[in-house]
Amino acid sequence: MTKPQSLFKSGRISCLPIRNRVVMPPLGMALDSAYGEITDYHIAYYEVRARGGVGPIVMEACLVEPTFGKSDFANSRIDDNRFIPIMHRLANAIHKHDTRIFVQMHHAGRQSNSALTGAVQIVAPSPVSSPVIGETLCALSLEEIADLEDRFVQGALRCKMAGMDGVKRFNHRPCEQQFRNCPIEDQHCCLSS
Ligand SMILES: Cc1cc2nc3c(=O)[nH]c(=O)nc-3n(C[C@H](O)[C@H](O)[C@H](O)COP(=O)(O)O)c2cc1C
Repeated sequence: MTKPQSLFKSGRISCLPIRNRVVMPPLGMALDSAYGEITDYHIAYYEVRARGGVGPIVMEACLVEPTFGKSDFANSRIDDNRFIPIMHRLANAIHKHDTRIFVQMHHAGRQSNSALTGAVQIVAPSPVSSPVIGETLCALSLEEIADLEDRFVQGALRCKMAGMDGVKRFNHRPCEQQFRNCPIEDQHCCLSS
């Protein structure tokens, strides 16, 4: 079998050089501490992948809001400045190997559930339940939407301060995408009110 040469060619993501096109996808590993701080073990896990030769790593879902935003019991958090130093250590550990690291900023919206949020009613752009989760939920108010926007901005700034190479959004219908979730949101989105 011929080796896919182009996979191992260097390239760029915008102006950022990458050493090859082998991308580690976001994989939630539940390796964080109980309150969502990245652990030494978690850093070691990513560093092994960087040493192994991947070009960019896309870090797993990291919360911009620690309660309603959860999609797992152990999501990493980027909702507070106190997480910057440990994120900085992670970024340095990855950069040592000439690998890039991107952070996936996340709020689960209607993809969360009350077992994760601690029995707090989950929130989304509209009060329509997810057919998969099936829980009643609360529509975000305009103030809460503005707060959420700000949380994404602040989360991105923290990632920049920590030396991360970039940010991206969660892949599977996160809260911000639920605003465009036709036909459910077309009928109920509070932005239209
Ligand atoms: C254990 C596990 C954790 C995952 N965590 C995330 C995650 O945090 N964020 C995300 O967007 N996708 C997550 N995914 C989805 C993977 O990134 C996705 O399956 C991978 O990109 C492969 O995609 P493909 O099956 O379409 O090739 C996860 C998948 C698994 C199996």
